Amino acid sequence: MARPPNEGLHVGLIMDGNGRWAQARGLPRTEGHGRGADAVRRAVEAAPALGITTLTLYAFSADNWRRPADEVAVLMGLLESFLVRERENCRRRGVRLGLIGRRDRLSPALVRETEAAELATRDGTRLYLRLAVDYSGRSAILGAAAGFRPDERRDERGFLRHVNRACHSDPETPPVDLIIRTSGEQRLSDFLLFESAYAELVFVDTLWPDFGGEDLRRAVEAFRRRERRYGGLSASSGNPSAESATAGCPPGQRV
Ligand code: IPE
Ligand code: IPE
Ligand code: MG
Repeated sequence: MARPPNEGLHVGLIMDGNGRWAQARGLPRTEGHGRGADAVRRAVEAAPALGITTLTLYAFSADNWRRPADEVAVLMGLLESFLVRERENCRRRGVRLGLIGRRDRLSPALVRETEAAELATRDGTRLYLRLAVDYSGRSAILGAAAGFRPDERRDERGFLRHVNRACHSDPETPPVDLIIRTSGEQRLSDFLLFESAYAELVFVDTLWPDFGGEDLRRAVEAFRRRERRYGGLSASSGNPSAESATAGCPPGQRV
């Protein structure tokens, strides 16, 4: 699924390292989550000027329920206050907010705030901000497969719509171009598995609470220096069809 070059970027951020940030300072892990919420604001503010039109933030994985109940409660509380506090801010700045992931295990209050934020910001066109909460990439793929009718055309774009619907996203959300993970870990931890087929990956050592607009700018710059070939050849190889990821494909074979 190649992207037209002039389309805005979809960036995914695996916001990792809150616990280590706090532990390094002799603070409880939950303190790191609180500081992580400030970093979220910085990333959201910096994103549009960097050409990012969709930003997916991994806030709570489906496997994070395994954490101690008090840590989970703090994370859910922070999320709820983020939605309450940032709703109007997002609306004014043209940011459309959405939660992706399961909603049936969230508290009724959190679901209410999610729906209120989605409704209040639905006309935002500057940035689509997706918060991945109780999210699992594998579950989204399974949900998509279950919703796929046997008579549907089997193409990647169509299946992506199902993946998006399965996690409550706008069905037209494009694949992810760049995934950034903070804290030095180098894995996806069940994040955007279908959508990241040709994503560029950038791993940075910075712990999430220390991450700022400048770090995001550097990661996007590193991304722009990369050459995305989608299985074709380098544009500098002299191959006349290398310019387009669909060149040379039998018609209808590519989406
Ligand atoms: C990321 O930080 C936040 C969530 C996963 C919810 P962590 O809490 O995973 O921080 P580390 O990896 O333990 O340092
Ligand atoms: C991934 O981080 C999930 C989020 C950042 C929300 P984890 O800290 O949960 O991932 P693992 O356990 O190190 O893979
Ligand atoms: Mg972690």
